[in-house]
Amino acid sequence: MRDKTIVITGGFGALGRAVREAALAQGARVALIDYAPAPGEFANDPLALGGVDITKFDAAQAAMTNIHAAAGRIDALLNIAGGFVWRPVAEADGALWDRMYEINLKTAMTASKAALAYLEASHGAIVNVGAGAALKAGAGMGAYAASKAGVLKLTESLAEELKGKVRVNAVLPSIIDTAANRKDMPNADFSAWVRPAELAAVMLFLASDAASAVTGALVPVSGRV
Ligand SMILES: NC(=O)c1ccc[n+]([C@@H]2O[C@H](COP(=O)([O-])OP(=O)(O)OC[C@H]3O[C@@H](n4cnc5c(N)ncnc54)[C@H](OP(=O)(O)O)[C@@H]3O)[C@@H](O)[C@H]2O)c1
Repeated sequence: MRDKTIVITGGFGALGRAVREAALAQGARVALIDYAPAPGEFANDPLALGGVDITKFDAAQAAMTNIHAAAGRIDALLNIAGGFVWRPVAEADGALWDRMYEINLKTAMTASKAALAYLEASHGAIVNVGAGAALKAGAGMGAYAASKAGVLKLTESLAEELKGKVRVNAVLPSIIDTAANRKDMPNADFSAWVRPAELAAVMLFLASDAASAVTGALVPVSGRV
């Protein structure tokens, strides 16, 4: 990853931070985009852009333009921004379904479109984050799983559109071992979950030249569940 510039959406979140660390350790330059304001630790990093709502194309485009101007190139886009709400259909309203669609699927589409010209110039790669639930959803996961199923179809379709120019793949994690999940499921076997560093390694492989023949792949990363 030396000399590569990697853009991570949702970069201040649990997985985003782990992928950033792994990418830095591999010698990459890393830019972060997030809706959340930049936490203090990123205050002096010109490539850490907080307060950016990438459901809005103009905001995503401005962020990519700024990053490209500062770094000179964009080699990979890791679409990590997203979120989860557990709610049975009987208790959910349309606004919840709209929100899941916006933050999980529209963010990936919008950021990808905004970065396309830069990624084509570098023969780069996009790695999306789907979810195991997109293949087999559990109770209460309709809105989330449907939005993540959309991410899988976006991945396949965009991979076809960009064949030979930009590779597009997705990872499908089960449960990631994050502080939030430990708090929500205190009695679970944490050791069975996907460690953020394990998922980061797969995502960076898909983003790297080592995966130069891989596009349109939907890769389950399900830990030991
Ligand atoms: N955690 C799991 O077990 C699990 C399992 C399967 C898949 N995933 C997926 O993996 C990804 C990362 O999960 P995580 O646990 O690291 O989540 P996280 O800690 O909540 O991080 C997600 C980040 O995305 C940001 N974001 C949300 N909407 C955005 C928008 N419109 N524009 C810009 N940034 C936005 C969030 O900002 P705000 O906090 O300000 O909204 C947050 O900083 C998500 O796509 C998630 O669906 C997670």
